[in-house]
Amino acid sequence: MLSNLKPQAADKILMLIEEFKADTRQGKIDLGVGVYKDPQGVTPVMRAVKAAEQRIWEAQTTKAYTSLAGAAEYRNAMANMVLGEVPGDRLASVASVGGTGAIRQALELARMANPDLTVHVSNPTWPNHLSIMKFMGLPVQQYRYFDSETRGVDFDGMKADIAKAGKGDIVLLHGCCHNPTGANLSMEQWQEVVAILEKTGAVPMIDIAYQGFGDGLDADAAPTRLVASSLPEVLIAASCSKNFGIYRERTGILMALAENTAARDLSQGAMAFLNRQTFSFPPDHGARIVSTILTDAELRADWAAELEDVRNTMLGLRSQLASELRELSGSDRFDFIAHHRGMFSRLGATPEQVEKLKTDSAIYMVGDSRLNIAGLNRDTVPVLARAIIDAGI
Ligand code: LMR
Repeated sequence: MLSNLKPQAADKILMLIEEFKADTRQGKIDLGVGVYKDPQGVTPVMRAVKAAEQRIWEAQTTKAYTSLAGAAEYRNAMANMVLGEVPGDRLASVASVGGTGAIRQALELARMANPDLTVHVSNPTWPNHLSIMKFMGLPVQQYRYFDSETRGVDFDGMKADIAKAGKGDIVLLHGCCHNPTGANLSMEQWQEVVAILEKTGAVPMIDIAYQGFGDGLDADAAPTRLVASSLPEVLIAASCSKNFGIYRERTGILMALAENTAARDLSQGAMAFLNRQTFSFPPDHGARIVSTILTDAELRADWAAELEDVRNTMLGLRSQLASELRELSGSDRFDFIAHHRGMFSRLGATPEQVEKLKTDSAIYMVGDSRLNIAGLNRDTVPVLARAIIDAGI
């Protein structure tokens, strides 16, 4: 039986981790997978996470099951962090296995509710979005998003394309810090998107994996809050991997905002059922770390301060890179790097140029020229800037 399996294409992002490890050159630079690294190249355990783990270790008296939906303290704390004001009469939620698990469960839920749906995704989007949808056999339509000339959002193209979504279709939106481009909508543009969705009756599904990495915790959640308070139905997949730095704990949440309390209860039941079918109880350790931090004023303040340092470090690297490139190229054509937000920027280089960066300069980025800003430090920025110019980008 097993010999009937077909080889699977390697994930474009994850394969870079292995390639990078195997490269023996001194001074190699990893700008591939979206993991934060401090100036010493370390992905640290955040202070508040360490403190919360210690408290949990000391206080926890049992490892018995929680509930299929996950711990209520965690779900409440996350709803509060993402939504601000929580519309309890409309909100169903379950803890998930990371943000990816929430995305998968959201799509399963949507398909249970509407077997004929099409999912509309930005072009480009996180490659694993497309991979999951293909694996599930869901029809996918890409909407225009990135303008490769300006490296900003092709908003007219986006509006025209999402207006074609049908009632009960899903429109997948990145809540903040668009992955892979780093180009984001303004709040005015979000308002226009909401008006279009309202007209079409398509349901927004928001993937928010980088809250706190763009303009700040509340600013990054503002588009999600706008959508949640304006439209009758919204699905939200949130991840704690990046903003709590707990990547391997696989901590995420799926929230569904329903039109009324009866639909909320149906959603809650379906989401718990989906957890049971997939992995039964969701993992608890990461969720407990998050709820311990978010419900304790001191830990929360320390976590928010450290997250703010991470965000400012990335902004500093963005400005430094843009200004090095301004100098070397004698033009402002790389200024978009300073305007993008989040972990990533899409450079707009060809696959050959990306390959050249790897071969000539041991600089690794995803083939579509997405670079992870957090993989840089003040010393490697000039090296990257020089290599970008030398590669003819
Ligand atoms: C990324 O886009 O690099 C991250 O979300 C990590 C991943 O799982 O792909």
